[in-house]
Amino acid sequence: MALIERAAPPDRADVERLVAAYHASEGVRPRPERISWAVEQVMRNRFPGVILVAREKKSVVGVAVATYSVSAELGRVLVVNDFFVDPTLRRKGVGKALALRLLEEAKAMRIDRMDLEILPANEPAAAFWRSLGFRTHGRTIFSRDLT
Ligand SMILES: CC(C)(COP(=O)(O)OP(=O)(O)OC[C@H]1O[C@@H](n2cnc3c(N)ncnc32)[C@H](O)[C@@H]1OP(=O)(O)O)[C@@H](O)C(=O)NCCC(=O)NCCS
Repeated sequence: MALIERAAPPDRADVERLVAAYHASEGVRPRPERISWAVEQVMRNRFPGVILVAREKKSVVGVAVATYSVSAELGRVLVVNDFFVDPTLRRKGVGKALALRLLEEAKAMRIDRMDLEILPANEPAAAFWRSLGFRTHGRTIFSRDLT
């Protein structure tokens, strides 16, 4: 059974490695300096959020990075930006353990809602989040890169 903990400074390289693997798995070229910046913001509490790691025999095998957002409509929102389990350790409950701990952390932060995006073709992730009670609400995300 994986041990889920808040990421500590010594976990930083592992967190960044798994976030980069997540981006690559989504077909996005990982940008190490951006990953490092985002992890630093949350880990050093410069931006409110949570980083969790899943450990299996002391190795970090899963990661969740979520940040806090304020919404006049939805209230306190926790947005899951990066969520990844080592491909060799899937379907063993690691992702579920990470998500349940994230929900616990969210309750402690008095979060009203947790949000996340997945790519349309990512059926495993859709099945995973559905199994945890997450639903789509018919919204379409519009975005525009500014850099
Ligand atoms: C999605 C992901 C995090 C799931 O992690 P995991 O550790 O394999 O998930 P779990 O073993 O905890 O699965 C919990 C439940 O989710 C569902 N599920 C998970 N993976 C599934 C899959 N490939 N197909 C169908 N259902 C799946 C099942 O209901 C499963 O319960 P079960 O194994 O008892 O049937 C993992 O596949 C992953 O890292 N994918 C790549 C990154 C990604 O897509 N991240 C999410 C984007 S926000």
